[in-house]
Amino acid sequence: MDEDSQKKLRSQQWFAPSAGGKGGFVHRKAWRKNQGLPEDTYGKPVIGICNTWSELSPCNTHLRFLAESVKRGILEAGGYPLEFPIVSTGETIIKPTAMLFRNLMSMDTEESIRANPLDGVVLLTGCDKTTPATIMGAASVDLPTIVVPGGAMMNGMFRGTRIGNGTYVWKLKEKINTEGFTEKDLKDAEVCSARSEGHCTTMGTASSMACMAESLGLTLPGAAAIPAVDSRKKTLAQLSGRQIVEMVQADRKMSKILTREAFENAIKINAAIGGSTNFIIHLQAIAGRIGVDLKLQDFDDLGSKIPLLVNLMPSGKYLMEDFYYAGGLPVVLNHMKSHLHNNALTVNGKTLGNNNEDAVCFNEEVIRHIDTPLQKEAGIAVLYGNLCENGAVIKPSASSGKLLIHKGKAVVFDDMEDFRNKIDDPELEIDEKSIMVLKTVGPVGYPGMPEVGNLDLPERLLKKGITDMVRISDGRMSGTAFGTVILHVSPESAVGGTLALVENGDTIILDVPKRLLQLDVDESELEKRRANWKKPASKAKRGYPYWYTKTVQQAHLGADMDFLVKDFEASDPTETN
Ligand code: FES
Repeated sequence: MDEDSQKKLRSQQWFAPSAGGKGGFVHRKAWRKNQGLPEDTYGKPVIGICNTWSELSPCNTHLRFLAESVKRGILEAGGYPLEFPIVSTGETIIKPTAMLFRNLMSMDTEESIRANPLDGVVLLTGCDKTTPATIMGAASVDLPTIVVPGGAMMNGMFRGTRIGNGTYVWKLKEKINTEGFTEKDLKDAEVCSARSEGHCTTMGTASSMACMAESLGLTLPGAAAIPAVDSRKKTLAQLSGRQIVEMVQADRKMSKILTREAFENAIKINAAIGGSTNFIIHLQAIAGRIGVDLKLQDFDDLGSKIPLLVNLMPSGKYLMEDFYYAGGLPVVLNHMKSHLHNNALTVNGKTLGNNNEDAVCFNEEVIRHIDTPLQKEAGIAVLYGNLCENGAVIKPSASSGKLLIHKGKAVVFDDMEDFRNKIDDPELEIDEKSIMVLKTVGPVGYPGMPEVGNLDLPERLLKKGITDMVRISDGRMSGTAFGTVILHVSPESAVGGTLALVENGDTIILDVPKRLLQLDVDESELEKRRANWKKPASKAKRGYPYWYTKTVQQAHLGADMDFLVKDFEASDPTETN
């Protein structure tokens, strides 16, 4: 780098020869010099490698080693890599739910970047929340940033058929009841579904988030679908290391990439790949951090008419490894070009359109052409009505078509414990036409908005061959799940939304084509119930969960904490001290 370019580096506030006195001595010499670094290290772009590796986060364990490939690339391009850990969230392990800690993880990312002498950042991500959380945090600082998605596990095969993590789990109760699955069968299936390092193999939330990052322009082309253990993942990591140094030199900050057009592209691509409903809440939170106005209704307006092109579970039958061999996301971006803002900028300085114009599909069974889609309209529908004044969402492509217009009597569960106690009680009055209503699983109520919205059906109905019913809650659903499940009801029951007032036997009207979710109860009766409603006692008594419940926004705004959105600007302590 020439001297003028060096002077512009943010890290020079810490390391420049002019940063003299005691402070300069400490930053430049005494502490970093203990690593044996030569003097010329201090004029190079300093690249942070934000690593979500943790043994508490099984989907991300390989990132510990993938960071070495990133470092190699940074060094080759003349940068100076500094890897740092942040709190990580292992979706299948952490209690009460990883979503509670997404915002904490984003804060850790933000403050680690802001407080340190970094010029650019590489985000190493994988499991569900680790991608949106780190992007949210990095967006709040707005340095040049590139994402390296960790990649999915290898295809799971069980007794000759593909077995997708998550998606298969949701069928287990059904299999035990209708196919006589034993404990041994379950154990055999378990190991088959987790064959290697990496994240879930379906188009669940982790895969949807990787595709989100690529469609936003935050990764190198083709990054999302490379399996975790494929040697090409290391190549991608090394090339990303080289790229971030160039991004710093070009001052290609996140805000230049994360434009309104980029968000619109991501919404359309999530529809075309049959992506997770969790995509909505995470994309909105990212938009809030970078200051792009994105409304819940945008997801319906932009995405609901988009055709489904990717044949992956839970909407289809293949897995991420198949998606990679078929050509991965570049093929989808190419097929979808008539719907996209192709001039959106990406991390490599080229446009999304340029990056993907030569993509070739190698398996049209896995990635359909836009003229022969799996479904004509696949995106997420946003519902409104007195039961969800601020909105609720449903993924029609994962629902039973015959239930998308449905009128039924409510069977109410006050919380998850109530559900577990009652669902298989022979006294419970429930049949296949009933609508299951679950309360107290929203951001404030649970707390943290867990993935429990796809409630198991009662055993006695499963034995009758019933595999889907309408279910409504203020919670979320795993991206690997399916069913006629209405989620993210806002406002949630714990803050007094109409959901809190639903009683057993109330009639509920669902009409997805009309985007309606209505509680068919007189307003005067609802007023009476509202007057008698008592706010449930909070389970968040101390620490971060307490802070979270006091400041978290409702689902229709992305469930970020209010003081973390861009408009809530505090001064940057590193600029003023
Ligand atoms: Fe980590 Fe599914 S549990 S991606």
